[in-house]
Amino acid sequence: MNKTCSINIRPSDKVTKLPKYIFAELDEWKEEAREKGADLIDLGIGNPDGATPRPVVEAALKAIQNPVSHGYPSFKGKIELREAIADWVKRRYNVEVNPKTEIQTLIGEKEGLANVAMAFTNPGDINIVPDPYYPVLSRGTWVASGEIYHVPLTDENNYLPDLDSIPISVAKRAKMFIINYPNNPTGATAPREFLEKLVEFCRKYNILLISDLAYGEVCYDNYRPLSIFSIEGAKDVAMEFHSFSKTFNMAGWRVGFACGKKEFIDALSAMKNNLDYGTSTIVQDAAIEALNMPYSYVQEIMDGYNARREIVAQGFNKLGWKMKRSSATMYFWLKVPKGYTSKEFCKYVIDKTGVVFTPGIAFGDMSDDHFRVSIVQPPERLKEAFQRLQNAGIRYE
Ligand SMILES: Cc1ncc(COP(=O)(O)O)c(C=O)c1O
Repeated sequence: MNKTCSINIRPSDKVTKLPKYIFAELDEWKEEAREKGADLIDLGIGNPDGATPRPVVEAALKAIQNPVSHGYPSFKGKIELREAIADWVKRRYNVEVNPKTEIQTLIGEKEGLANVAMAFTNPGDINIVPDPYYPVLSRGTWVASGEIYHVPLTDENNYLPDLDSIPISVAKRAKMFIINYPNNPTGATAPREFLEKLVEFCRKYNILLISDLAYGEVCYDNYRPLSIFSIEGAKDVAMEFHSFSKTFNMAGWRVGFACGKKEFIDALSAMKNNLDYGTSTIVQDAAIEALNMPYSYVQEIMDGYNARREIVAQGFNKLGWKMKRSSATMYFWLKVPKGYTSKEFCKYVIDKTGVVFTPGIAFGDMSDDHFRVSIVQPPERLKEAFQRLQNAGIRYE
C-alpha cells in the first residue's frame, strides 16, 4: 500500500458552513470556570430543572414492560396519541384538528421544525425568520440551500415583526414565515390583531406560516396564548408545532407534534418517513398520560416558574435594569451594559461570579446587544446569583 497517499475525507460544504453552535461554546466556558473551582449557577440553557410528573413516569414504566413497545414505533404516532393530542388542543386552545390526517407526532419539536423547512424549501427560496430566533428556525432552510430574510424584533416594536418593512420583492419570493410566540428568547407574546395581520400577509403572498408554540403553556397572570388556528383563514396557510419539553418537564424524552391541514402534514410525514421512525412507543404512551392527567400537574410547574419570575425581576431592577416583565416563557431578555458585546459581557459575568447567561448573539446577528436569562434554578440559587452579581458590582447604568 502506498503510505504517501494523502487521505482527505471532508464533510459536505453544508456541514462545514454551519456556524459553531454558541451553546457548545458556552459549555467550554463553563468547563473552564469549573476547572478553576467555580460553583456555577446556570441560567444559560432553557432546560427545565423539575422532574417529569409521576403519572407520566408510571405510564412509561408500564409501557416498557410491554413487548409491543420494543419494536419500531408508528411513523405518524399511535392513533391513541393523536386522539389525545386532538382532545388536548380542543380543550386548551378551542381548535379542531383531525387526529387521522392533521397530526404528525415528532421526536421533539426541534426535528419537526428542521424537517418542515427541508420539506418545503427549494434552493433559492426565501424563508422569513425574525431575529432574535431559536437557532433551528433557520437551520433547516440552510441545509435545503434556501435563504433567510431576517426581520428585527426590537424593544420598540414589542418584539413583533414589522410586516410593512418587508420588501414586496422578498414577500413575493418567500416560501415560509416562521414565528415563535410566546417567544424564546424575548418572552414576547403575540396579540390577536398581529396574528390576523400575519395570516392575511401569508395568504396574500402564498406563504406557509409556521407557528412554533413550544411555550404555549408557560404563561402567567391569566394570559393564554392563541393557537394560530383560532385566526380566520389560518388553516389554509399555517402549521402549528408543539413540544412536551417545557409543558410537562419532558425535555429529555423527545416528543412533540405538528398539526395542520392534510397536505402540509403529508409533506412533513414524507420527509420524516424517509429519514427516521416515530418517537419511541414507550414515550408515546407516556405522552398520552401527560395529555390526559389532571391539568394541576402542569399548573404546579408554571406556579413554580411564576414565583422565580418575581425574584429575577426584582433582582435585575435592583441592579439597574428597568425591564418590562412578560406574561409568558421562562426567559428574561435584557440589554448588555455599554462597552461590551454580548459574548464579552456573559464571559465576564461567568468569570467574576459563576453565573451563566446566554449571549444574545446566540439568537441572531441582530441581537448582540442583549443577553438571555433562563429561570431554571430553584429560588435559593436565584437569590444567591443576585447576591453574587451585586457583590461583583455588575449593574446596568
Ligand atoms: C422556541 C423553541 N422551539 C422549539 C423548541 C424545541 O423543543 P423540543 O425540546 O420539543 O425539541 C425549543 C426548545 O428550547 C424552543 O425554545
